[in-house]
Amino acid sequence: ATIEKVDDLIRQMTLEEKIGQMTQFAGQGAVTGPEIGDEFKTYLEKGMVGSMFNVFGAEGLRQLQEQAMSKSRLKIPILFAADVIHGYETTFPMPLAESCSWDLDLMEKSARIAAEEATAAGISWTFAPMVDVGRDARWGRVMEGAGEDVFLGEAIAKARVKGFQGINSWQDFAKPNTMLACAKHFVAYGAAEAGRDYNTVDVSRHTLFETYFPPFEACIVSGVATFMTSFNEIAGVPATGNKYLYTDILRDQWDFRGMVVTDYTAINEMIDHGYAADLQEAALKSAQAGIDMDMNGAAFVQHLKTLYDQGKISEEQINIAAARVLEMKVMLGLFEDPFRYMDPEREKATIGKPEYLEEARKGAQRSIVLLKNEGDILPLQKTDGEKIALIGPMIKERNSLNGEWAIRGNREESVTIFEGLQEKYQDSGMEFLYAKGCDLLNEEKEQGFEEALNIAKQADKIIVAMGEDFNWSGEAASRTNIQLPVPQRKLLMELKKTGKPIILIVLNGRPLNLSWEDENLQAIVEAWYPGTMAGHAIADIISGDYNPSAKLTMSFPRNVGQCPIYYNAKNTGRPLDPNQWADYKSSYLDVPNSPLYVFGHGLSYTTFEYSGLSLSRKTFSAGGEIEASITIKNTGNHDGEEIVQLYLHDQAASVTRPVKELKGFDKVFLKKGESRTVTFTIDESLISFYNSDLKWGSEAGKFDLWIGKSSADESQHVEFAFE
Ligand code: IFM
Repeated sequence: ATIEKVDDLIRQMTLEEKIGQMTQFAGQGAVTGPEIGDEFKTYLEKGMVGSMFNVFGAEGLRQLQEQAMSKSRLKIPILFAADVIHGYETTFPMPLAESCSWDLDLMEKSARIAAEEATAAGISWTFAPMVDVGRDARWGRVMEGAGEDVFLGEAIAKARVKGFQGINSWQDFAKPNTMLACAKHFVAYGAAEAGRDYNTVDVSRHTLFETYFPPFEACIVSGVATFMTSFNEIAGVPATGNKYLYTDILRDQWDFRGMVVTDYTAINEMIDHGYAADLQEAALKSAQAGIDMDMNGAAFVQHLKTLYDQGKISEEQINIAAARVLEMKVMLGLFEDPFRYMDPEREKATIGKPEYLEEARKGAQRSIVLLKNEGDILPLQKTDGEKIALIGPMIKERNSLNGEWAIRGNREESVTIFEGLQEKYQDSGMEFLYAKGCDLLNEEKEQGFEEALNIAKQADKIIVAMGEDFNWSGEAASRTNIQLPVPQRKLLMELKKTGKPIILIVLNGRPLNLSWEDENLQAIVEAWYPGTMAGHAIADIISGDYNPSAKLTMSFPRNVGQCPIYYNAKNTGRPLDPNQWADYKSSYLDVPNSPLYVFGHGLSYTTFEYSGLSLSRKTFSAGGEIEASITIKNTGNHDGEEIVQLYLHDQAASVTRPVKELKGFDKVFLKKGESRTVTFTIDESLISFYNSDLKWGSEAGKFDLWIGKSSADESQHVEFAFE
């Protein structure tokens, strides 16, 4: 019925009307590039706008939709989109933080809640999830992804698509709380040279297949309805005009049936890339590449008709793209009821439900990574009479807690660290002293040092909260210095001189260089941007009411010079023995090759012992499998969860393979003293890879297998062979 309806519409539509469907404009407040001029508003008047994004509120959208319905000759509703990235109003931890939970159900659920709220407010298409693999901490957009790993990235991509869309098959889009998800940004956006946003990308096709494509393919497996182009060029061809990507791979090889939208004015930007002489040529190249919708660039709406008149583009090509857009609207049931997502009563009843806030707190607890905890200074026991100094620009900070892309999250409602700790320790008999100490960045504000040092000297312990302002990460927010800003570091150094134990809570959107902090402070809690329930979740961690379980999904470099850095790198022909520096090896003169905190690192208040790694057999062949089992014991004094990680390494192959690759993980809860055997199944798919002809398959040979607590834990190791 969908296809019939779409065909019927296409038959009745003029060429201009079809091009209108290929056009999307931004509402106010969504400006991440050049704004559209007033002249384009007339397209709305003419009912020639297929989609709008980042206009908000059920009532407002209803009015816009009414306008569209009355203007458009064939009564074609507008498809409303928004960047619903980590929550709509109830804000969950930023996606990179959430990925550190390694909890797929949790991530699916937060995406679902975001969709419940957004669809109640009129939005039926989100520009999420971002599934770009991120390996360079300088790049501000790492905050939106799932980190550096491909295997974990695929699993998280699937969970997020499922959560946002809320469907089992595209037929289910007819339900009123479903929305289209968007796999973005296709592709290799995270490989921008020197981590500078929008910068040139030049990776091999092999790397595209091995590293950057898989999370996008995973989205298709989960039924994602739309794709977004990336701003970057790849080996000389901008993604938005790249036929290889959008036709040969996406359509022909992966059989993607959904719709493709550009990123914001990405067609226009092909002129600056030097890939098109003018906007007309850019529009042609983009349409020919297989792009269906132009985001805020007005390139299609201004030029496709002329290109058709000149015989450069066929009506059939325009029909295909317009039909893909219309298909989405039919599937969502917008033709049956254009206002089905726009009920202010439902909006009021849905947004900010107490159970959503509870889920946001749970998500934040599970995203916070305990990086260091010397002498078990944490959890902070409730000790009558103890004095705690709360110092730093993030202690009472509210504005940054939601992080970037918290689209409708009311920053005023987020719970501060101060509020969270006050509530948690209210009956403890402890005394909390407070001084801001310094500004996030502004060096003139160093006059606060004195007050901070004063309370530090009176205190038994110091809790410092520092970090980056939320808009230092996200789009167009790359940094070449990934340390804490100067005034904050200076203050830390002064506080250190008091000799008092210091617990540092960091709020930031990317891995930072915390080398000095690691060497000098007792504890480091990586809180990221935890969202609406930030202060409560941080207090849950500090107090031990929640035992930290998160593990890093991006390596923390020792300094910015190591970027990009990731655990699943290649070995080189002159690998350095990590235990012994030697000349003429692949190394640095000033720091080890390893990062400060490795992928998969994260501490708990308890300890877990791994023992008895064993294999069901030592060899297997096609169609067979091996089971790898290990016993995990909670040997500490707290109940807790452990993320158990399986890594494989192909010792020799027809193309070089990474030194190790994550190929399985399990999150297990163990009461203190409890043991559990965890088993992973290794089959041919887990040892397969793309060869130099870009063919997927396995090769016979020997493999290393580790199961451990992080990517650097090699204590439990065995070998097996594939024959
Ligand atoms: O969805 C985003 C994209 O990720 C970056 N540029 C702007 C788009 C719309 O806001």
